[in-house]
Amino acid sequence: MAKPILVANWKNHPSSISEAESLIKKIIKDRALYKKLSLAIAPPAPYFELVSDRVGNFAKLASQDLSLVSGTRTGEVTLDILKSFGVRIAIIGHSERRNLGESSEEVSQKVRLALRSGITPLVCVGEEDFDTDGEHFEFLRRQIKQSLSSLGRRADLSRLAIAYEPAWAIGKRAKNAMSPLDLSQSVIFIRKVLVDMFTRATAESVPILYGGSVEPANAEGLFRGTGIRGFLVGHTSLEARAFRAVAETLISK
Ligand code: PGA
Repeated sequence: MAKPILVANWKNHPSSISEAESLIKKIIKDRALYKKLSLAIAPPAPYFELVSDRVGNFAKLASQDLSLVSGTRTGEVTLDILKSFGVRIAIIGHSERRNLGESSEEVSQKVRLALRSGITPLVCVGEEDFDTDGEHFEFLRRQIKQSLSSLGRRADLSRLAIAYEPAWAIGKRAKNAMSPLDLSQSVIFIRKVLVDMFTRATAESVPILYGGSVEPANAEGLFRGTGIRGFLVGHTSLEARAFRAVAETLISK
């Protein structure tokens, strides 16, 4: 059985290298636990070296985006740079980047580029608003299809993962996150869309993670029986003790 997956999305935190160092030190203390998972940490790029030096034997380094630019462009971080730091996974299409104007077409180009370069794309999808009549499913279907449109029906998806992150559930407290029942329905729906797009065997093997206000209080319920393979965690990944508690729910029997 494949290990559960846990991805820490530090976003633009912590606010200094010394705070990042102290967070890493706390995380290292729990490395025996994290070795039981497939753990990845996506820090801000200036902390790449710090993180990759310290966690190399129990976690992978992830980026929060990747650049499509192949020529010269001030401020961009290219795939070659990411790879030279040992980045193995790239979060692509996070809703906070989509809010800045990133389109699903761009997401799909980034996914293709990542796969070609041997980096695992963790493709974020999720509706902006939840609709009790189920209309958000149509949004989700369109977004998934467009975000993976650069891949052919027989594409090798063995290195692709989906993070289902409803934008409305991000950055809240546990009680405002998605309910386990709604999550199970979304996971079934996402799987169906993937089966429509790719071969069944391939589509069924793609891991689906959940992200959006995952905290120790709701992690167990969101993980058990909902069909997800793990979590993409934002604010809770900045608090070592709470992050450890989320990790424990993924490995407890
Ligand atoms: P959150 O963020 O856990 O703080 O809701 C998740 C994410 O945006 O990836």
